[in-house]
Amino acid sequence: MSTSKKNLIIYASLSGNTKKVAEKIAETFERHGWENTLVQIDQNYRNVGSIPNFDAFDFICVGSGVFWHIPFDPLLSIIRSATHRTSYGKIVPGPRLGLAFATYGGAHLGPKEAQATLELLEIAFEHLGFQSFGRLAVPGRVSHYHGNNQQTPSWYFPDIHLRPTADDLAMVERYVNDMLSRDQFQKVYGSA
Ligand SMILES: Cc1cc2nc3c(=O)[nH]c(=O)nc-3n(C[C@H](O)[C@H](O)[C@H](O)COP(=O)(O)O)c2cc1C
Repeated sequence: MSTSKKNLIIYASLSGNTKKVAEKIAETFERHGWENTLVQIDQNYRNVGSIPNFDAFDFICVGSGVFWHIPFDPLLSIIRSATHRTSYGKIVPGPRLGLAFATYGGAHLGPKEAQATLELLEIAFEHLGFQSFGRLAVPGRVSHYHGNNQQTPSWYFPDIHLRPTADDLAMVERYVNDMLSRDQFQKVYGSA
């Protein structure tokens, strides 16, 4: 029987940017001995019989692209359907921990454009009882806007048409490595 700790990575990705980040998070957790379950919500997602058993996981990562400032709503609905079906009353998140992550174009305001999404993702998984332990936002190309292969020179970021790049994903790996080695993390889960 496996004794690995279990990480659920549930995310919405419509053009694949957030999926890349989710996979890098999984790879990094795996290197620390964790077992990962990836659940992708996409445009065709039908919320019937596919809600993960959130109680079966030790850590949760919830991610989305930013769509008009907020996360992809079906992702929030799935989590809501698990938390608001029963009347828990007051919830005190923890000791299990969670991470919110997002990819975003940031065309007008830069990093600020990801903040509401990260906050909403956090609120969603804190309703599941996981305490927020980190927030990660990565620029991602906007595929419908200028096409996949055209530069985006006049946006907040100089050009995002290739993002997330290998450097962005290396940053994700460093972020997760740091998170997993923090004292508070090791107090909850022990050291790997
Ligand atoms: C309909 C639509 C609306 C978007 N709205 C925003 C926005 O308000 N702010 C922002 O920073 N990026 C916005 N973006 C850019 C996406 O957040 C970015 O491309 C993200 O990486 C998409 O993630 P995905 O490939 O995982 O779906 C929008 C993209 C689309 C397609």
